[in-house]
Amino acid sequence: MAASPGVGDDEVVSLVRFIRSRRDFEAVVAIRTRVFHDEQGLIGNLATDPEDAGATHAVAEVPDGEGGSEIVSAARLTVAGHLDEDGQASGRIDWVATLPEWRGQGLGARVVALLLDHADALAVPAVTINAQAHAVGFYGRLGFIPRGRRFEAGGIPHLTMVRPLRYRPIDRSEP
Ligand SMILES: CC(C)(COP(=O)(O)OP(=O)(O)OC[C@H]1O[C@@H](n2cnc3c(N)ncnc32)[C@H](O)[C@@H]1OP(=O)(O)O)[C@@H](O)C(=O)NCCC(=O)NCCS
Repeated sequence: MAASPGVGDDEVVSLVRFIRSRRDFEAVVAIRTRVFHDEQGLIGNLATDPEDAGATHAVAEVPDGEGGSEIVSAARLTVAGHLDEDGQASGRIDWVATLPEWRGQGLGARVVALLLDHADALAVPAVTINAQAHAVGFYGRLGFIPRGRRFEAGGIPHLTMVRPLRYRPIDRSEP
């Protein structure tokens, strides 16, 4: 059962879920703007792209201290229209970001893990990410393997990583 955001016994309880409203998506765009524009200077003023409309967006929300909640981490999965270097259909994760004050608490990993679970449920053969070099260890712990193609984008070194489908065929020999 998903936990509701709230505070109990000095513990901040976070909820990781898919977005469910335009307001949620606006919070996602605000995080992208703060992280990829204000902090990293990677993008212009437009923190959206045409693939947002057909994508699956996951977020982490935490209590805002006033009885409500605040979205502080986000990422996106697209499963249609991507072929990897071998010409195989693959999903792609983009726009992974946690607000600076909420980093290092496992929220980013849980958001990406939810998207990977979703990709597995859809039997997407592989999920690709163009990882910023500093985050290669973060994605490695989530099952991504470096694909070897290093490149620079916005002055930041990147590495393509791939996470294979975690799929176990049903063993029909079991009773
Ligand atoms: C990478 C990022 C999404 C991780 O989010 P998070 O919520 O802190 O993730 P988690 O708490 O689940 O994991 C933190 C791990 O990420 C790693 N990490 C990478 N960059 C980090 C950063 N700038 N600050 C804190 N941790 C960072 C840490 O090594 C940490 O590893 P640890 O668990 O061994 O301590 C977040 O640091 C971020 O938004 N960075 C700026 C945007 C970015 O680079 N996005 C990735 C684009 S490919």
